[in-house]
Amino acid sequence: MWVVVLVMLLALSSGSHSLDKLNMCMDATHHKVKPGPEGQLYLQCAPWRDNACCTANTSAEAHNDNSYLYNFNWNHCGAMRPKCKQHFIQDTCFYECSPHLGPWIQPVDQTWRKERILNVPLCMEDCHDWWEDCKDEMTCKSNWHKGWDWSSGINKCPDGSKCRKWTDVYPTPKSMCEQIWSNSYLYTTHSKTSGRCMQLWFTGSNPNKKVAEYYLNNAQQHHSLTVTSLLFLAVSSLSVLS
Ligand SMILES: *[C@@H]1O[C@H](CO)[C@@H](O)[C@H](O)[C@H]1NC(C)=O
Repeated sequence: MWVVVLVMLLALSSGSHSLDKLNMCMDATHHKVKPGPEGQLYLQCAPWRDNACCTANTSAEAHNDNSYLYNFNWNHCGAMRPKCKQHFIQDTCFYECSPHLGPWIQPVDQTWRKERILNVPLCMEDCHDWWEDCKDEMTCKSNWHKGWDWSSGINKCPDGSKCRKWTDVYPTPKSMCEQIWSNSYLYTTHSKTSGRCMQLWFTGSNPNKKVAEYYLNNAQQHHSLTVTSLLFLAVSSLSVLS
């Protein structure tokens, strides 16, 4: 009987935990502990003003080259054009400010953060526009998370790598969106109106909360199924034993 009670407790506790998953901040380098209003969020990060995991300072720094946030150099193969760079700024705002990434937050063993995002389903338009606006740039690496030469304090192309055409490194929007941040994003064919994908670019109230809710409820259904089958197993093993 205690097995059944345990399983029911597990089901209850996972239910309350998922409420937080709709409105939370990941445990990373610059994120706030909890989301909340940030009236001063800067330019491209302004859509998150009502509820954000980033501070005003982080939102301003997200717009700077080699910002102290990550010392990351977008211009590692020559100056990146503004029309491309705006997507990296938006990506930084999304990463730093989003309070609705809970369903995709994973623990990670890294010096600079304890949690990351994995396979966030990105709206097709956001991925395609990003690639279109960047396809005339150059880069020397497909995964921008790893393998840089950091000896000077900012990332440089590692020895043996060459600056190549963006389209040679990333033949498709999908390859870029998925590879650039080691699968933080998942390419989807969902459009921004579908409610099934996360939007990097939006105006007005944050559309991503509903999307997170959808994916959370879906996972929750799987979870309930698992709990149900565990319960069934527990009950049937008990009846076999007795
Ligand atoms: C953000 O804070 C850092 C550290 O306190 C400071 O050096 C920097 O100037 C601030 N950036 C902006 C844009 O306010």
